[in-house]
Amino acid sequence: MDLGIAGKKALVCGSSRGLGFACASALAQAGVEVTLNGRDRQSLTAGAKKIFETRNRKVQIAVADIGTELGQNAVLAKCPNPDILINNNGGPPFVEFQSLSKSDIEKGLQMNMITPIRMIQKTLDSMVAKGFGRIINITSVSVKMPIQGLDLSSGARAGLSSFLAGVSRSVAHRGVTINQLLPGYFLTGRLKEGFRVNAEKNGVPEDEISHSMIQQVPAKRLGEPEEFGQTCAFLCSKFAGYITGQNILIDGGLQKSAF
Ligand SMILES: NC(=O)c1ccc[n+]([C@@H]2O[C@H](COP(=O)([O-])OP(=O)(O)OC[C@H]3O[C@@H](n4cnc5c(N)ncnc54)[C@H](OP(=O)(O)O)[C@@H]3O)[C@@H](O)[C@H]2O)c1
Repeated sequence: MDLGIAGKKALVCGSSRGLGFACASALAQAGVEVTLNGRDRQSLTAGAKKIFETRNRKVQIAVADIGTELGQNAVLAKCPNPDILINNNGGPPFVEFQSLSKSDIEKGLQMNMITPIRMIQKTLDSMVAKGFGRIINITSVSVKMPIQGLDLSSGARAGLSSFLAGVSRSVAHRGVTINQLLPGYFLTGRLKEGFRVNAEKNGVPEDEISHSMIQQVPAKRLGEPEEFGQTCAFLCSKFAGYITGQNILIDGGLQKSAF
């Protein structure tokens, strides 16, 4: 399917691996000029190589910590005025509420709320001027349902959604959409690390942890990053111009509600 965005420029933050990488790869497949971002040059080079091998597309890389103003400006210097912005980075670690320090809370807010807002502030005007823009914020199912140890993720990301609710409506008539994609349980490095930590903490095999997680999901499996990436590419397509201000769950039915 031709998504109608070939030749557009996309900046995909936090994309050397995992869900960000899957979005970058699907956008590259759609003919988009992609910039990958992460803090580690080697992982980024490996990611760029994989996209070249699988999609036959060259992408550029921007090594920077997206959580800092310096890093954000460095990435935007490599990919100025993107048509498509995918906001992503690492999520907060699993920490029980009473163990969160003030600095943990500030760091979580910086990464998962302030950083995407700053990136949008820095890119929105050029999208409005061009009459086309797609902004996707990768957040989490934790916005809609509590997950033990991820209160910070829930709070910062719900805050981001609410913060942008008005902004998305203010630019809808200029061809710019802003949406959140909320992953459930996707098989990435982050999830595998979660299996490892939980297995160690509870003294059980990792298989047992992943099995019990899968049992919670009506689809009875974990999500494939490719499914996530292709949904993201569709939301960036010319066909998705009427979808804005939405929190879109991709979770195999995990979050149970009637609406
Ligand atoms: N996987 C899931 O099931 C799931 C579920 C709910 C929510 N999420 C959320 O979705 C997001 C992506 O998850 P994932 O599973 O794809 O994670 P992942 O496999 O750990 O990948 C995270 C990516 O972000 C990059 N990154 C992290 N911190 C960064 C920073 N400060 N600046 C630039 N790049 C940075 C990482 O590269 P470097 O480390 O090399 O910088 C890596 O490329 C996270 O925020 C996570 O909380 C994931």
